[in-house]
Amino acid sequence: MRLLDVHHPLVAHKLAVLRDRSTNSATFRLLTDELVTLLAYEATRDARVAEIVVETPVAPARGVKLSSPKPIVVPILRAGLGMLDGMTRLLPTAEVGFLGMIRDEQTLQATTYANRLPEDLTGRQCYLLDPMLATGGTLAASISYLAEKGADHITAVCLLAAPEGLERVERETAELQIPVTIVTAAVDERLNDKGYIVPGLGDAGDRLYGLAD
Ligand code: URA
Repeated sequence: MRLLDVHHPLVAHKLAVLRDRSTNSATFRLLTDELVTLLAYEATRDARVAEIVVETPVAPARGVKLSSPKPIVVPILRAGLGMLDGMTRLLPTAEVGFLGMIRDEQTLQATTYANRLPEDLTGRQCYLLDPMLATGGTLAASISYLAEKGADHITAVCLLAAPEGLERVERETAELQIPVTIVTAAVDERLNDKGYIVPGLGDAGDRLYGLAD
């Protein structure tokens, strides 16, 4: 597993406002969208392309276009939905699948409750969207699930990650024979006893969709 902890003043600035408990849901959604677009730029460095030639008004020029099969973007419901527009802004031709994972607050184990994905992901580059890499259970299960369906290149985009979650994802995906990359705006200190990232930003779903206001 490769970790890409993005250091950029604009990323750090937007993240600080997201963390602030006084930031309301509307601003939180807007900033999440902008922050994901910045992370998407880093996350797509290995996007597969094919060479093309275009005609400029002056002469032919070599270029590239995203190659087939199309990449697929998979938000993990529900909070990953808040990251979808920010990601597809940079990958407008990508397909979008959905994965619903819920975490049992007592056991902190993840189970699938919704799945809207192509049956066969052979040869596909997949971009998983999950704002908070906390215990890592949801993300590790999602990565393994996509790999079982044939995905051969998986990148997870997370606003924040905890060291415990990164270790778990690394451990639980070590056997997969495909490149797995985590892209995040910051690696925080730790998890608390409720499985929240410290200092974190609270419950990303609630902050996006307003239930905690
Ligand atoms: N999920 C969240 O939304 N926040 C955390 O801190 C951990 C998991």
